[in-house]
Amino acid sequence: MCGIVGYTGSRQALPLVLGGLRRLEYRGYDSAGVAVMDGLGGLRIAKKAGVLANLEGCLESGPDPLTGHTGIGHTRWATHGGPTDRNSHPHTGASGKVAVVHNGIIENFAGLRADLESTGIEMSSDTDTEVVAHLLARAYETGPTAGDLPESMAVVCGKLEGAFTLVAAHADVPSMLVAARRNSPLVVGVGDGEMFVASDVSAFIAHTRQAIELGQDQLVVITPDTAEITSFSNSEPDYQRFYVDWDLAAAEKGGYPTFMEKEIFEQPAAIERTLLGHFDRSGIVLDEQRLDQRELRTVDKVYIVACGTAYHSGLIARYAIENWTRIPVEVELASEFRYRDPVLNGDTLVVAVSQSGETADTLEAVRYARRQGARVLAVCNTNGSQIPRESDAVLYTRAGPEIGVAATKTFLAQVTANYLVGLALAQPRGTRPALQIARDFEVLSQMPATVATTLTLMNPVRELARDLAASKAVLFLGRHVGYPVALEGALKLKELAYMHAEGFAAGELKHGPIALIESGLPVVVTMPSPKFRPVLHAKMLSNIREIQARGARTIVIAEEFDDTVAPFADYLIELPRVPALFQPLVATVPMQVLAAEIARSRGYDIDKPRNLAKSVTVE
Ligand code: M6R
Repeated sequence: MCGIVGYTGSRQALPLVLGGLRRLEYRGYDSAGVAVMDGLGGLRIAKKAGVLANLEGCLESGPDPLTGHTGIGHTRWATHGGPTDRNSHPHTGASGKVAVVHNGIIENFAGLRADLESTGIEMSSDTDTEVVAHLLARAYETGPTAGDLPESMAVVCGKLEGAFTLVAAHADVPSMLVAARRNSPLVVGVGDGEMFVASDVSAFIAHTRQAIELGQDQLVVITPDTAEITSFSNSEPDYQRFYVDWDLAAAEKGGYPTFMEKEIFEQPAAIERTLLGHFDRSGIVLDEQRLDQRELRTVDKVYIVACGTAYHSGLIARYAIENWTRIPVEVELASEFRYRDPVLNGDTLVVAVSQSGETADTLEAVRYARRQGARVLAVCNTNGSQIPRESDAVLYTRAGPEIGVAATKTFLAQVTANYLVGLALAQPRGTRPALQIARDFEVLSQMPATVATTLTLMNPVRELARDLAASKAVLFLGRHVGYPVALEGALKLKELAYMHAEGFAAGELKHGPIALIESGLPVVVTMPSPKFRPVLHAKMLSNIREIQARGARTIVIAEEFDDTVAPFADYLIELPRVPALFQPLVATVPMQVLAAEIARSRGYDIDKPRNLAKSVTVE
């Protein structure tokens, strides 16, 4: 959470820093701020509560521009202190010469703050970050690290507990930025006579594609021509250089009104890229460098750990993985997993699913699992991020950058990748014949086309959304793989349309939720295929009758040619027919479109829903 960016070079820093913040705004949009060094010993700061556009408005109407060749910027998701001007970053030390931006939480900030206040320092914000600014200013001004910004930063980092990426500028060294990281991301962009630091590469790919991903507990000092990396412990730093190969257009709206809508339409390509290279003559191939067939054969228990939408992708995969492998699969919220001391051993495979690769709870679940001796496979969309780095193996989802806060294309890519995991586990165990695995892969390979067809069928869903925009609540029902689809549909509606929405397993209705049904309440029902376990289909039809009898307005998502449902559907959404276990890849699409359209009708910002941030890097 929070996006940070820094620049030093020969160009004016302000437009580059603001450009970077624009691309990082998905990380938080409670406030934004910049600091620019004028090169004459002055440090100029501007910050404003609310979205970046508020700050840009102030800068445009301000008396004089912030000029200078080195600058830092921040877009905030508030943790300590409300989303106000005074709590906006950058924060400064007492002298006003040092400015700091921060992503993360300093867990021991209260004690540090009390110590600073006891020496007469007056705080001007409620944030944990301001403590760092004062400590850094003091370390730079007095004591053994005086006059040495990198050493001062190293000393300060040694006092901090928690998660942080910090970037600091000091007016005395106007062509230098010092950045440090622990548990939060930091990448360096290496340009020609200029350097960037940022929370992720999208902040600078318009200017350079050469990047360095810092490792844990590392510090980088950038000047226009150099990037020097050290580790807090003085050990040899382990960092990764890489080339950013995705197209800049991938991080633009490309003619769509919002990123989310563009990303919904990118889903066929996301599935296609996720499958690429994962099938050859030997069958399914995952991460051949780090996960071999022997290890897969000995797995006797699978845990899928994840948060939010990624968790739903795991719930869907469980049906397929257990069916194909007969290995017991547990799907756990990463935030609960380690606190209940699950029993793991060397034959346990933990699959950690995360778009960002930096979700704090999922990362901690990975660390817990590895400490218990389990093997960890990351399913991740972000190259080189912390979760794959700390896992034994990785399967990248290759959906491309997802900027809309609500996960869409990465969800379908995660579901696809999780299916690959299931097939890869089935292969060496012989629980699914090689020919059938090849057929399953073929079905997956046809999914991009099927999802593309589904997308062409969405106009009626848009109309329906406008109709539902005034509803107080919407319920979602499903059975089997349709149950997690219902959960995902409800989550999308909550986060985008701020509407009360719940997903239920239809079999649970009579155990309580049916009491919620009242006249006119919209209920979205995902029908199982009539060909797959006809009993499930029949039971679902009964459930629809039950809610219809109590006045619910039934919105039924069913596969084409399922003639039995029409009499019970106040509104019918027909989808292409696919094998039952793969149905979520098509059935989720109308849920996404419905939520986005209801949000639009209600006048909400689809890409930046209130109170949320794309990467949840604090617990
Ligand atoms: O980056 P991750 O996949 O680990 O993120 C997990 C959740 O925070 C994320 O899926 C969240 O639920 C989405 N914004 C929902 O659309």
